[in-house]
Amino acid sequence: MMRKHILLSAAFLLLSTAVPMPVAAQNIIPQPEHISLSRGQFKLNKGLKIVTNLTGSDFKVLNQYTSEVMNHPLAYAKNPSQQAVFRLICKGTAQQAAQAMDSVRLQGYELEVTPKGITIQSLTPTGLFYGLQTVRQLEKDGKIACVKVKDTPRFAYRGLMIDCSRHFWTKEFLKKQLDAMAYFKLDRFHWHLTDGGGWRMEVKQYPRLTAETAYRTQSDWTCWWMDKDRRYCPAGTPGAYGGYYTQEDIKDIVRYAAARHIEIIPEIEMPGHSDEVVFAYPELSCTGKPYTQSDLCVGKEATYTFMENVLKEVMELFPSKYIHIGGDEAERRTWKTCPDCQRMMKENHLKDVAELQSHFTHRMEQFLNRNGRKLLGWDEIMEGKLAPNAAVMSWRGTEAGIEAATSKHHVVMAPQQFYYLNMYQDNPMEQPKAQGGYTRLDKTYNYEPIPAKYKGTNLEKYMDGVQACVWTEFIAEPGHLEYMLYPRLLALAETGWTKQRTGYDNFCRRAVVNVDRLRRAGYNAFDLSKEKGSRIESRSITQHEAMGRPVTYLGRYAEKYRAEGDSTLTNGLRGDWGYLEGRWQGFIDSTGMDVVVDMGKLTEIRDVEVDFMHQYDAVIYAPASVELMVSDDGKNYKTIDTAQPGVKTKEAYLVYPYRWKGNAKGRYVRVRALSREKDAWIFTDEVIVNRIIRSCGKG
Ligand code: ACM
Ligand code: ZN
Repeated sequence: MMRKHILLSAAFLLLSTAVPMPVAAQNIIPQPEHISLSRGQFKLNKGLKIVTNLTGSDFKVLNQYTSEVMNHPLAYAKNPSQQAVFRLICKGTAQQAAQAMDSVRLQGYELEVTPKGITIQSLTPTGLFYGLQTVRQLEKDGKIACVKVKDTPRFAYRGLMIDCSRHFWTKEFLKKQLDAMAYFKLDRFHWHLTDGGGWRMEVKQYPRLTAETAYRTQSDWTCWWMDKDRRYCPAGTPGAYGGYYTQEDIKDIVRYAAARHIEIIPEIEMPGHSDEVVFAYPELSCTGKPYTQSDLCVGKEATYTFMENVLKEVMELFPSKYIHIGGDEAERRTWKTCPDCQRMMKENHLKDVAELQSHFTHRMEQFLNRNGRKLLGWDEIMEGKLAPNAAVMSWRGTEAGIEAATSKHHVVMAPQQFYYLNMYQDNPMEQPKAQGGYTRLDKTYNYEPIPAKYKGTNLEKYMDGVQACVWTEFIAEPGHLEYMLYPRLLALAETGWTKQRTGYDNFCRRAVVNVDRLRRAGYNAFDLSKEKGSRIESRSITQHEAMGRPVTYLGRYAEKYRAEGDSTLTNGLRGDWGYLEGRWQGFIDSTGMDVVVDMGKLTEIRDVEVDFMHQYDAVIYAPASVELMVSDDGKNYKTIDTAQPGVKTKEAYLVYPYRWKGNAKGRYVRVRALSREKDAWIFTDEVIVNRIIRSCGKG
């Protein structure tokens, strides 16, 4: 008793001397490395000049930023004296400034706010810029809490990719997102400029790229892409949708980003996702005919020359170290019969089409390396043989990134299950259209790029950082894209910057405040305070009599969507909103889903429940019919129920509940669900037989 009393007194003493943290200081994203508070606040008068020793273009560029964004122009002083109220002191060399993008140490800064003034110090203008962002986040009603901050990022690469091909985003919109990126200390914008949706970059040497394929006959992606007669069209065609960035636009955006210490990494997709290129220049395809393939022909020298010429113009516009060449999802179909591709394989002793792609990638890499740049590509570039100096962007999960780093290649982690922000973030039935996964904010936040067992390994050494991606097939409006970006992008910012993360609850509280800030600043962020959360059924184990019972598959599930394999449908675990998270099992065979649960002995069957997902855009349809059968011997089945779910195919998203109640007997329970279309998926998560409902005891 006495001991407890002493402890309590000590705690009281501590609390009474500690300075309560002013709210703004508690809400910084990303969380700084060290932050301590002292009493008082600094009042920031409008128009106050910031005194700095920066010179030349560093001064000019930052002056424009602070004047326009913060209302505080710069003033030069060789040694900003203690008398200056707001001081920015750069302590490093020009060489260090030039290296800041690749060095966490050089991006660090120290900030001190006292009632008398503000001082930010760093080795580089980049660090000073980050110090200013912290000041911006600390400000509330013109007052800044007195703090001392010492801060360096965890990773040098903290990125965002926006797909500008499937839907086109204006220069103004991109600048607005660059502003938000800077505020949260993100420093790489990966610009997905080319893809089957349309070519978006003016290339002087190949004007047909934009003249012929920057526009298409309609905006809606699904209608256009699914139409077997889909067409690109020239600008000005009635109903045409699209656009492109002129080289002047690109220079303007690159400059705008650079002023925010954001490097733009352009992506030119090759050799797959090149439908628009082989339309504009069919001589670069295997068949020579438009609309017959997505891939470039990598057997023709003309393709290499063409892409090198495109990359020359790219390098003139983008000063980034990395140039992204895509490399994902090449079909490699036509290469198998194309005489040029076959000859290229033979001459270079390539054993398959994966090696043929590697050969192409390697030659592109040599070209980029000769020009002082490095090749970055999606993780498919590891198939065949990885080009010797290439860096890998790991998207199909984390394994490829780990493998690449283990073999001493630089990696950027962009695993789709955590960092693809085009996935749903809440109950799909109440959300704007998204892609099929369910990536809630906590999932993005909790992803750890270097799990404990990889500490001190090559993964740590070769990990450049992390990146979020937004693919825009289903996102056509600026407000919708912002809704998908925020606040999940903030979780990535925190992972990329903060070494000692605070845990989700703490982050979520800060994210709610920042969502509010973003909304007030005109960003259409998802209102986190109204998040509904995961599907109720997925939150607890469903107890039923078939749990743990073996399942025989008469219609096999697809390996890609195997979930937990043969135990999935009787493990008591129900799926969440997305089908990618390992609880929903997917069937695509013509047999549909046809499963038999062995109850172990003759059993009275009272109820059977099976949920089926329906997601139109993912071609996952509720079945055309469901048949429920029982058997004593596993050979002769008696049908006890049939149902025809009347779900409309075009329904965006729902979970169709098949339910049966009655009296039947059998050892084997068979559920057969037939697909409503060839090539449509059936997804289900559990075959529930005789649900066990535990009533609460009275006491
Ligand atoms: C990708 O999502 N195909 C990189
Ligand atoms: Zn070919």
